[in-house]
Amino acid sequence: MNFIIKSNFITSESKNSLKTYENHYLVCENGVISGVFRALPEQYKNLDIIDYKDKIIISGMTDLHIHAPQYAFRGLGMDLELIDWLNTYTFPEESKYNDLEYAEKAYNSFVKALKNSSSTRACIFATVHNDATAMLMDMLDKSGLITLVGKVNMNRNCPESLCEKDTYIDNTKSWLESVSGLKNCKPILTPRFTPSCTDYLMQILGEIRNNLPVQTHLSENLSEIEWVKSLCPEAENYADTYYRANLMGNNSIFAHCVYCTPKEIELLKQTKSYIAHCPQSNMNLASGIAPVRYYLDNDLNIGLGTDIAGGANISMFRAITDAIGMSKLYMRLIDESAKPLSFAEGFYLATVGSGSFFGKVGKLEKGYAFDALVLDDSELDNINKLKLTDRLERISYYLEDRAIYAKYVNGIKI
Ligand code: GUN
Ligand code: FE
Repeated sequence: MNFIIKSNFITSESKNSLKTYENHYLVCENGVISGVFRALPEQYKNLDIIDYKDKIIISGMTDLHIHAPQYAFRGLGMDLELIDWLNTYTFPEESKYNDLEYAEKAYNSFVKALKNSSSTRACIFATVHNDATAMLMDMLDKSGLITLVGKVNMNRNCPESLCEKDTYIDNTKSWLESVSGLKNCKPILTPRFTPSCTDYLMQILGEIRNNLPVQTHLSENLSEIEWVKSLCPEAENYADTYYRANLMGNNSIFAHCVYCTPKEIELLKQTKSYIAHCPQSNMNLASGIAPVRYYLDNDLNIGLGTDIAGGANISMFRAITDAIGMSKLYMRLIDESAKPLSFAEGFYLATVGSGSFFGKVGKLEKGYAFDALVLDDSELDNINKLKLTDRLERISYYLEDRAIYAKYVNGIKI
């Protein structure tokens, strides 16, 4: 379907600048943006125009790291650090997804929340369970969102109920087969993290990978990093436990990267691997503050994730403002020379930074997928007449997802 939208548009222009189009026309053809125009070109004159008047339209955002089965306990259990948090809250909750009745109820609630959120695309962890994961993928496929979902692999240091022992190869292969027919939701290999995956498991995933994308965790917490050292004494560093299994590359996502060493950063950069920065989770689990300024300035691929339920909030607006806040603490507490993120940089991370994992996604520009949020800030008493970018900043800090009036993915209103 081809159509025109008339309104105000804001897009990321470069890593640190926003571009605004006041009262312009955006033309969408077959899900892709044909251009944003001040005056409508003659050739489009017979297309339907949807007039969103004084609302603000921005590119949709991509949540680069979120756990679907953890949505049900979001906002609870914030008193522990990573390893204890996993053992006390997360693993018992994930064990419940062996029960399809529970999984259906919980995943329905997750999919509804994600559909109503500021994310138009997402990279999602499920659990080890094939059937529940296939069910989640079916629901997501129907939602119209564009998603990558991983059946989690884990075969050590986890409760019996989640431990794949010697079944992970067959499980993974049959899961991949069972979900191959979906359109909007595709599989992503998901070894949980090195402490719960043996070298052999990772090696096998690397072998059956065949260009499939990969997602996992890296260097989130100090005790976790020490643990990896003792589990893999012959690896050069934590990142190497993935690299040597052929699991790094420009279609791999590494969540957190709070404490990466210079060698690990070099490896991430060389392989063009993606970093999913999850500021709220890093705060809630007292993990630490990631050097986002360094990653951004040194051209690493980096985007933002909510990391539900390490993060309690599904809003990518919140991820932006948390990333900015955490970068200020980094400057104040760790490195005075690391300039905090600007609003434009935070917005870039959530749109283009994360979105580029899916291709030409994250900008309102010719050739990009038309993923968009129509925002209504009329409930705010903008007593002073604000410019468009100020209105967006205020929405991000204050209204968050409550400002969403309509949502488009690949040119389809969902
Ligand atoms: N590391 C391994 N598993 C997890 C998880 O579920 N959440 C977070 N934040 N870190 C992890
Ligand atoms: Fe996570």
